[in-house]
Amino acid sequence: MARLALPYDMFDVTRSAEEARRFSRMESIYHRGQDHIWDGNEVLDELWEKHGGAKISPAKVPAAQRVLGTIMWGELAAWKIASQFANELEPLEARMAATSQAHDEARHFYVLHDYLVRATGDFPRRLHKGGERLLAATLHGDTIAKRLIGMQLQLEPTALTLFHALRDSDLCPVLSDLLVYYERDEARHVGLGLQLLPGLMQKMGVRESLEFTAFSLKIGAISIGSLKSIEADLRGVGINPRAVAILGKSKQLKVFEQLWRTIPGGRNETTEKVANVLDAAVETLWPAPETRGSAPARVRRILKVLKNGIETIDTVLDPSGDLDRDCSAPDSSRSNGKPVPEAAGSSEAAE
Ligand SMILES: [Fe+2]
Ligand SMILES: [Fe+2]
Repeated sequence: MARLALPYDMFDVTRSAEEARRFSRMESIYHRGQDHIWDGNEVLDELWEKHGGAKISPAKVPAAQRVLGTIMWGELAAWKIASQFANELEPLEARMAATSQAHDEARHFYVLHDYLVRATGDFPRRLHKGGERLLAATLHGDTIAKRLIGMQLQLEPTALTLFHALRDSDLCPVLSDLLVYYERDEARHVGLGLQLLPGLMQKMGVRESLEFTAFSLKIGAISIGSLKSIEADLRGVGINPRAVAILGKSKQLKVFEQLWRTIPGGRNETTEKVANVLDAAVETLWPAPETRGSAPARVRRILKVLKNGIETIDTVLDPSGDLDRDCSAPDSSRSNGKPVPEAAGSSEAAE
């Protein structure tokens, strides 16, 4: 008879105080997810009524469909990867956090699909090539650590960046309000990576560590290619791709700084040099406005970025301000589950 593969020994592990704290935080991601749960159908109906329907100008509809379609299919990929984590992660608390994420991503997928159909009459039947390449690379990471850094610490902040940019573009008030709900959920998902990765990274040997860093940089490079491939559509909905690249880097840096605080060796000179090369690619693809029209100024600027990286801006991951509570010690305070409404109109990006 086949044996039932349940991890019966999951409660037998001995943990250091630091590990215990991290796992407690992971468990709190699950509970906070439950506290903040929102009904997708209800919220969409409420926002639809509040704003009298979607307000996307007809000229922007094709580009909006493609940009939002990219996010919609990305939500499905996030749902798949969170479901994998819910099945694979051994510590109970990490499994709970991933299960909660899978539930959120399912809601993100169907709500965006329903919004697209109601607001534009249709939705893209597939993802563009650059987006497919990015999601495939992340989904097929051959270790849990690679998939965690790719999805939780790189793609989640990228999604947060697009949501933020879409809110700032004022494409549609229903969408702007809806995305605040998404942003708060996604910011919580970053917390799983932040809490689980340090333990995994500390156990890596030299070779695994190098492969892990190379994977993360590869995802960074593919992300830039993916952004380039939807450049025209981003412009079509009023989003500046350079501003998105810089905002994305700023949000990712915010996440990575939290990670480096616990893994001092995670930030090293070689990684920074390669990251600067990626920044220089951004500078080359989308030059700073003040260097346009002057080849020498552009070259000087690219060389400066190669040396120091691109300048980042002050930003937040979660417009409702919940991330710190979600990622830190379990908090006994409970909110009513609704994002702060004013945040929908806030603009932290210095575009
Ligand atoms: Fe999501
Ligand atoms: Fe997510």
